[in-house]
Amino acid sequence: MSHDFHPLRVVEVKRETPDSVCVRLEAPLEVAPLFAFKAGQHLTFRREIDGEEIRRNYSLCVSPNEGVLKIGIKQIAGGVFSGWANESLTVGDTLDAMAPHGSFTWNFAPHAAQRYAAFAGGSGITPILSLIKTALETEPRSHFTLCYGNRTSAGIMFLEELAGLKDRYLDRLALYHFLEDEEEEIALFNGRLDRERCEEIFTTLITPEGVDAFFICGPGPMMDAVEQALTARGVAKARILIERFTTAELSAAQLAAARALEEKAAGLKMSVTLNGRRVNVTFDPEKRSILDNVRAAGLPAPFACKGGVCATCRAKVTAGKVEMKVNYGLSPQELADGYVLTCQATPVSEGVALSYDI
Ligand code: FES
Repeated sequence: MSHDFHPLRVVEVKRETPDSVCVRLEAPLEVAPLFAFKAGQHLTFRREIDGEEIRRNYSLCVSPNEGVLKIGIKQIAGGVFSGWANESLTVGDTLDAMAPHGSFTWNFAPHAAQRYAAFAGGSGITPILSLIKTALETEPRSHFTLCYGNRTSAGIMFLEELAGLKDRYLDRLALYHFLEDEEEEIALFNGRLDRERCEEIFTTLITPEGVDAFFICGPGPMMDAVEQALTARGVAKARILIERFTTAELSAAQLAAARALEEKAAGLKMSVTLNGRRVNVTFDPEKRSILDNVRAAGLPAPFACKGGVCATCRAKVTAGKVEMKVNYGLSPQELADGYVLTCQATPVSEGVALSYDI
């Protein structure tokens, strides 16, 4: 994929909830084909705010068939980019973005008759909305169940759009809202999507054995709870797709182990390919990751979160060995194919060769 940034024009900013906006973007004609995407993928944005370059990923909330680019941005406490977007972003502005990417997606096919289930929390609905719309319009015989958790009804993103989808696909979309701070008649829907509630959902609303794929996106504890409940019921990992935006801090022991590995790697030589250019880089532990070593050597290697989550910094190892501190962004298949997250990677052998181009 291309790692270049392109200016997208902001053509609509719509307030979704008191703390979120939905932004429609338009790519210049000459790069529009680069912005074709698959359901569930995201865009990496780059913006200078108060003299600092900020990079953030936001998922597309539309189906590829809609022919538009739309993202949802929820304001998070202390969030520089999300705060700026919610307060200052207006029609006519431009946002620099990389081509869509990400593996939180599915190959929907018109002849398929599948059952899908999604668990979303807060702004985690964004990629899931894209997946729901695409599944239901592409596969007329497939069904989708959504369990969506929020604090209050006023904070539910895409509430009207979801209700519209429910009306349109009455028999094929099941929609359940779970609210932490509001009481409904049915106790199951009161409270957060924790492990206990998931267990109840799997005995009353959803039969996991009958679901072909689960999609999970939201706060870390919610995603862990759903994943654990599914795994405990024997659901294969290949049927559970998870999209993370944030991750827990490493423990002191994990940090010390990572530091020791970086120091041991001092002086190891790597060959790095990006945009057709190959450069030799000597690993310097003070620069920490392979990503930061590569960037310090003058190659504009792509990145966003630097936390092992978004996979923007993905590269393929073609020789030698590297180790990652954490991996929340690569699928088992990508790992088997030799991909690593370079923001988390340290070389552990001489002669490491890696490419951002394949
Ligand atoms: S920059 Fe996000 S995983 Fe490396």
